[in-house]
Amino acid sequence: MLIRTRHGWEIPESQATPEAAFLDRRAFLAAGAGAASIAAGVTPASAQWFASSQPNLDRKPDPTDDLYPARQNPAFTLDRAMTPEIVAAGYNNYYEFGSSKNIWKQAEAKKTRPWTVTIDGLVEKPFEIGIDDLIRRSQLEERLYRFRCVEAWAMAVPWTGFTMKSFLDIAKPTSAAKYVRFETFKDPSVAPGQRQTWYPWPYAEAITIEEAANELPLMVTGVYGKPLRNQFGAPLRLILPWKYGFKSIKAITRVSFTADRPKSFWEQLQGAEYGFWANVNPEVAHPRWSQATEQLIGTQGRVPTQLFNGYAAQVAHLYKGKESEKLYL
Ligand code: MTE
Repeated sequence: MLIRTRHGWEIPESQATPEAAFLDRRAFLAAGAGAASIAAGVTPASAQWFASSQPNLDRKPDPTDDLYPARQNPAFTLDRAMTPEIVAAGYNNYYEFGSSKNIWKQAEAKKTRPWTVTIDGLVEKPFEIGIDDLIRRSQLEERLYRFRCVEAWAMAVPWTGFTMKSFLDIAKPTSAAKYVRFETFKDPSVAPGQRQTWYPWPYAEAITIEEAANELPLMVTGVYGKPLRNQFGAPLRLILPWKYGFKSIKAITRVSFTADRPKSFWEQLQGAEYGFWANVNPEVAHPRWSQATEQLIGTQGRVPTQLFNGYAAQVAHLYKGKESEKLYL
């Protein structure tokens, strides 16, 4: 067995990956195996993490290479050091490729061209658009954002993309549209996680149309000054920096506009723990752990969590009058 020295930021998977630990444990127990190792605090997920490897940062040519690096938007600055690329590229959540954090290698199996995005539901006219067409019709910019996972780890990343607001101009929703639903690919032949039938594949997420029209949501096509790597959700993902990271869906294939509130992947699995709103709030604990502080991956340190992950000035107004809802779960 390969034993690796742990860095300070690598909290045990059993602590850092509540969903993975919970679900793997359930599957493991359902299979009638592994009781002894679970009692010892070793889940199948943590075992994978110990045997993990550093990401390879070599890249293959991409049809949009000429668009990077994009101009940085100076309105978005950080209060902390940027997470090194080698760290962020080796610590991902992408359940399609497994429940460990070290899925970069498995994610390479997914082809990201050709890739089309379907836009449908309550729009003037449903249509499909090729990813390169969509990217070239859009204005790319780089933004430095804090990113906060519900599992209480955080990073700071230079994302490149176009605003969701500008995407609404392309999609043309009708006035009946109240929500935007995003869906990921489904292809169990390359995504082994999708062979685990207790998950409600494909991964899906949703936000309100008002949230979509806010200045913060970014339709992300690149990171660290280059087109997105597969483990980050190539070729197109969402980034909602004031919400817990599970809302920031990767590998988007469909965007649908609806009148009724859609149920997301995690909400279907564990609605009592992962809700629709999922706004970051240090004072509202997850049912199984505190959200008061966060572990900065790549460092030894924990820092206080900020309301709306530090983006209250941009988004707090969206939730006025909605106080009776579970805005922070
Ligand atoms: N999107 C898809 N399609 N599949 C996933 O498993 N995981 C989510 C989110 N988007 C996920 C996803 C979770 S739980 C988090 S915290 C972030 O992606 C992680 O993004 P990162 O790997 O770029 O840090």
